[in-house]
Amino acid sequence: MTGNRTFTMIKPDAVENGHIGAIMEKITAAGFKIVAMKYTQLSVRDAQAFYAVHSERPFFGELVTFMTRGPIVAAILEKSNAVEDFRALIGATNPEEAAEGTIRKLYATSIGENAVHGSDSDENAAIEGAFHFAGREVY
Ligand code: CMP
Repeated sequence: MTGNRTFTMIKPDAVENGHIGAIMEKITAAGFKIVAMKYTQLSVRDAQAFYAVHSERPFFGELVTFMTRGPIVAAILEKSNAVEDFRALIGATNPEEAAEGTIRKLYATSIGENAVHGSDSDENAAIEGAFHFAGREVY
């Protein structure tokens, strides 16, 4: 049984490069319904907590610096098979390995600055959505 919600962020690189509109268009054109969305900026503490699972990785400091350097768009998206379908839409973590037409192939610049986040499991989608949104902000 697969879930019907996933969590995404349009990351600071894609926001800086003016891609919010194009990325949201691809997301909605692929059949995802926006059930929560906000334009916000992560504090260092927020980013360290959100990415705690990566805290021992060599790129952790770089990741926190990147994710806090400017605003992001955070959203919860609804569609059947949401986690898997969204990861197909965004493409591989490394844009050099991402399939043609995917969001990362189009808009990401490197493995670190890869334009968008997509949850990797139903469990993490629920955790990540709750990290960013109160229940009354989800429609
Ligand atoms: P995402 O999968 O959204 O969440 C973890 C993030 O860590 C990933 O996107 C990249 O932004 C970052 N990341 C993963 N691997 C590397 C790497 N080898 N070097 C730098 N950043 C990375």
